[in-house]
Amino acid sequence: MFFVELILVLFAFLIALSIVWSTLQTGISPMMSSGKACQAMLASTSPPANGPLIDLGSGWGTLVVALAREYPHHQVIGYELSWFPWLVSIIRKYSLRLDNLTIYRKDFTKADLGNASVLFCYLFPGGMDALHKKLKRELFHEIRIVSNTFALPSCEPVNVTKLKDIYQTPVYVYHWRPCSTTTPSQLILAEECF
Ligand SMILES: C[S@@+](CC[C@H](N)C(=O)[O-])C[C@H]1O[C@@H](n2cnc3c(N)ncnc32)[C@H](O)[C@@H]1O
Repeated sequence: MFFVELILVLFAFLIALSIVWSTLQTGISPMMSSGKACQAMLASTSPPANGPLIDLGSGWGTLVVALAREYPHHQVIGYELSWFPWLVSIIRKYSLRLDNLTIYRKDFTKADLGNASVLFCYLFPGGMDALHKKLKRELFHEIRIVSNTFALPSCEPVNVTKLKDIYQTPVYVYHWRPCSTTTPSQLILAEECF
């Protein structure tokens, strides 16, 4: 009996350690979006355009599961680095038989977001900076970005919903529109986000 308890405590300790390690690595804990935030993010998605709905840092699967249930005919993708929250989200996907949901254990900054229709995130200022750089480098089509709590640097949101919680948490919506300008010698791709 003592041996089983010891194994359980050791297992819990390793899980806690891995969460602390991935929090230090990514800069954010796998804290889930609140029910109100999920509702506001889902409302900002409607109606979704063609192309996958992607959660950048899908944590325990809270938002991707809600999206996959709300839009059963849309492909929903999550990227998550922290292995235990990722494992829990995979178990949720299979137990709810969400065939339209794929969750990768991968760094979203190394993922191809080229065909996404909506990007969702609940990151931190450094993560939003990294996302902004990636968008400027790689995203050359229109896309909607919905961010819980943190704003996209240098971009003007088309809508900000303040949640009715104690922090009045903002949910930002952006329309990312790359624009191209030709100069005699080169094609300059620049971004505009409204
Ligand atoms: C605050 S949680 C949000 C979870 C989920 N999106 C939600 O709204 O409930 C942020 C998650 O992003 C993950 N994350 C941060 N940077 C990442 C990266 N570059 N690639 C993949 N996941 C990342 C973290 O591990 C964490 O689980």
